[in-house]
Amino acid sequence: MRFGVALAAFAATLPYQVNSSGPVSTVAITVDAERQYQTIDGFGISEAFQRANAVKTGLSVEERGKALDLLFSDENGAGLTILRNGIGSSASYSRDWMKSIAPTSPPSSNSTLKYEWDGDDAGQVWMTKEAMKRGLKTVYANAWSAPAYMKTNNQDSNGGRICGVPGANCSTGDWRQPFANYLVQLVRFYKEKEGIDITHLGWLNEPDLNQTYASMLSDGFQAADFLKILHPTLTREGFGHVKIVCCEATGWQDGEDLLYELQTSPGAEEMLSVYSSHGYSVNPALPLRTSRKVWQTEWADLNGKWNPAWDNLGKEGEGITWANKIHSALTLSNISGFLYWIGAARTPNNDALVQVMNGTVTPSGRLWAFAGFSRFVKPGATRVDARSSVGWVKVSAFVNADGALVVVVINNGPDDLEAEIDVKRYTSKKDIVTPFITDNANQGTKGEELRTSGDDGNLKVVASVKRRSMTSFVL
Ligand SMILES: *[C@@H]1O[C@H](CO)[C@@H](O)[C@H](O)[C@H]1NC(C)=O
Ligand SMILES: *[C@@H]1O[C@H](CO)[C@@H](O)[C@H](O)[C@H]1NC(C)=O
Ligand SMILES: *[C@@H]1O[C@H](CO)[C@@H](O)[C@H](O)[C@H]1NC(C)=O
Ligand SMILES: *[C@@H]1O[C@H](CO)[C@@H](O)[C@H](O)[C@H]1NC(C)=O
Ligand SMILES: *[C@@H]1O[C@H](CO)[C@@H](O)[C@H](O)[C@H]1NC(C)=O
Repeated sequence: MRFGVALAAFAATLPYQVNSSGPVSTVAITVDAERQYQTIDGFGISEAFQRANAVKTGLSVEERGKALDLLFSDENGAGLTILRNGIGSSASYSRDWMKSIAPTSPPSSNSTLKYEWDGDDAGQVWMTKEAMKRGLKTVYANAWSAPAYMKTNNQDSNGGRICGVPGANCSTGDWRQPFANYLVQLVRFYKEKEGIDITHLGWLNEPDLNQTYASMLSDGFQAADFLKILHPTLTREGFGHVKIVCCEATGWQDGEDLLYELQTSPGAEEMLSVYSSHGYSVNPALPLRTSRKVWQTEWADLNGKWNPAWDNLGKEGEGITWANKIHSALTLSNISGFLYWIGAARTPNNDALVQVMNGTVTPSGRLWAFAGFSRFVKPGATRVDARSSVGWVKVSAFVNADGALVVVVINNGPDDLEAEIDVKRYTSKKDIVTPFITDNANQGTKGEELRTSGDDGNLKVVASVKRRSMTSFVL
């Protein structure tokens, strides 16, 4: 669509002109579309530990649809494409636990496991199907722990290790192969019972931490050891296409330590598709030395009281803070995926992007920070070179698989700026650019379409970027 009627309506509410009477500050932005970096797999969230049930139950059909759209729809939400489901390890669904698919403890590792499937998986089956209807591409199944009976501490919480990995022996035997079989059985249940293809599989979560909830310890040597059992098991069982993800360390430093340990085992790293780490403790501000894709798979403001603001007091949970975090991870840490902790939940805190409370669904500025990337930068996009002449103006650029160029500009400064965007070595399919703006007054609002000038291979766009805003320009 070109300059249609709808745009006039937007122009009325969204003045997109630089004030010509005052001094005009400008920022020069240069994009080189042929200077390519990592491929993007997507952006996402989790609904593990029964959080999916907060959306599935207790909401009206309208509010339920709104929550799902806010997370997964390109038109009415963030268009997230990765869902990180929890694989159960607990004996029951007590509290917010995730129940195991083999909850009955057998006498030894040589016993046959008794599998059961309830078709719901704490709301995650329903959530996955609803997300897929809205464009979800990646279903990542991730275990926080093995079942108690497979571990050195005989609990699925409080740390402990898989019996059989180096340094971890148990009187009940070597549980590495049964655990690999267990993970494959989960993938098989999703495929055969629910028609859902799990695309990615992982078996660790924060293996550097001993927690009172489902948790299991592992160093990188032990991760490599188990990987060499899991990888051939997947292939043998007909699931060789499922990509393996490891190791979900708590922060970037622990992630680096585990990676170097894993790399000492010849052939192990090559069995991985994705090396994952969380963003807590040490932020993703450096690339990890690996040829594998790197995802930041969990991060959140765990301490702040629910704060839906885009930009208020510069608090940890605010939208613009998260826009900058995602920007840094993409540009400094070479990541191909970025996930928040929870998507939607009944929560009084900032651990989710969307709050479900008293039957009502409320998005946060954090959701719109994700949306500024994830609505437009789709799986298969390539990040390309982008520079800004002003330090507080952060810019990243991506070429989607369909050829569309997306330039994401975050203006952290206190003033509106005029941006002169120079796009080199890019052939445009059309001569218009659509900005989508997020700030305190806008949530991914479509702005007035702009015309490019110059020639293919050297396009120019002049646009206003509002103070304390994020603007995604789509060419
Ligand atoms: C984990 O923490 C629990 C509770 O503090 C403790 O009893 C246990 O020894 C710890 N386990 C490991 C493996 O460090
Ligand atoms: C574990 O068992 C192996 C093989 O039986 C043995 O070589 C190793 O010393 C044992 N390790 C520990 C920590 O008990
Ligand atoms: C499991 O079977 C193997 C092979 O028969 C045997 O060596 C091992 O001791 C058995 N383990 C247990 C815990 O029964
Ligand atoms: C970035 O990640 C890709 C894999 O996605 C890898 O091939 C490349 O070497 C990495 N680059 C840097 C600078 O780490
Ligand atoms: C939800 O309802 C409770 C009890 O009526 C009230 O105290 C609380 O403020 C409400 N929360 C929201 C977010 O509406």
